[in-house]
Amino acid sequence: MTTLKEELKGKISDKELELVKKGFDVIGDVAVLEIPDALKKKEKVIAEAVMRLYPCVKVAAKKIGATSGVERIRKVKVILGERRTETLYIENGCRYKLDINKVYFSPRLGSEHLRVAEQVKPKETVYDLFCGVGPYVIPCAKRGAKVFAVDINKDAIKYLAENVKLNKVMDKVDFAAGDCRKVAMKKEHRGKADRVIMNHPSGADKFLDVAFYVAKKGAVIHFYCFLKEDEFDAGIKLIQAAAKKAKRKIRILNTKKCGQWGPRIWRCAIEFKAN
Ligand SMILES: C[S@@+](CC[C@H](N)C(=O)[O-])C[C@H]1O[C@@H](n2cnc3c(N)ncnc32)[C@H](O)[C@@H]1O
Repeated sequence: MTTLKEELKGKISDKELELVKKGFDVIGDVAVLEIPDALKKKEKVIAEAVMRLYPCVKVAAKKIGATSGVERIRKVKVILGERRTETLYIENGCRYKLDINKVYFSPRLGSEHLRVAEQVKPKETVYDLFCGVGPYVIPCAKRGAKVFAVDINKDAIKYLAENVKLNKVMDKVDFAAGDCRKVAMKKEHRGKADRVIMNHPSGADKFLDVAFYVAKKGAVIHFYCFLKEDEFDAGIKLIQAAAKKAKRKIRILNTKKCGQWGPRIWRCAIEFKAN
C-alpha cells in the first residue's frame, strides 16, 4: 500500500516531505492529522493525499493543541471534507458515536479495552469511574456484566447513552454525569463492585479512595497512570498509600505498559485485588 509520504512525492518539496508525520489516527470516517506549523500552507495538499489514500475518510482534521482540561479533550480543526467532527467508530465489534471535539477518545487503546473486557465474567458488577463514551462499558456489558458508569463530561454521558442503545445493552448499563466522588460515594454504591475501571491516567490517583469505597472484598481494580520508563514502583507506592488510608489490603496482579504518552513516559495499567 502506498504511504502518505509516497503519495505526496512531487506535490510538496523534499524538505517539506521530511516534516510530514508518517502516522495519523482514523476515528470512524475522520482522519486526525498532526501538521507541523512549517507545513501550514500545505495542509490541504496533505489532507487531499490522505483522502485519496483512504476513500473511507470523509473528514480530514488536524490537531490544534494538546489533550487538556479535566475532560481530557484534544481539539481538532477540519481542513478538508465534510464540516463535522462527529463520527461512528467500530472497535472490537462495538459501535461508538462520538464527537472528537467534545469528548476524549483514543483509537490506540482498542486492544487494552478488549484485554480488560475479556477478564469480565457474566453477572459481575463493574464500576467505570471515568467512562468517556463507553469503550470499557460496552464490551463489559456485552459480556453479561452489570455496569455503572460515571463521567464528569456531560457530552461523554450523552454519547454513552446513545452507545448503550446502539449496542443494545440498555438493561445492563446505568450511568450518571458528574464527579465520580460525588456520584459514587453514596451508600447505595458502597462495596458493590467486583471490578473497578479507572482509565484517567492524569488524575486517577486522586480517586483511589472512591475505588476502595465501591469495591467489595476481593474486587479487581484496573488503575491507569503515566509513569517514566521502568518506574512502576512509583505507581504501586501510590496504590499502597491509598490502601493504607482506606484500611484495605491489596495484592498486585499485573502491570503493563499500554502505549507511549510522551518522551520516555508511558501510559501504564496496574491491576490489583482489593481485599
Ligand atoms: C482519559 S479519559 C478516558 C475515558 C474513557 N475511559 C476511555 O477510555 O475512552 C478520562 C475521562 O475521565 C473523565 N473525568 C475526569 N475527572 C473526572 C471525575 N472527577 N469524575 C468522573 N469523570 C472524570 C473525563 O471527562 C474523561 O472522559
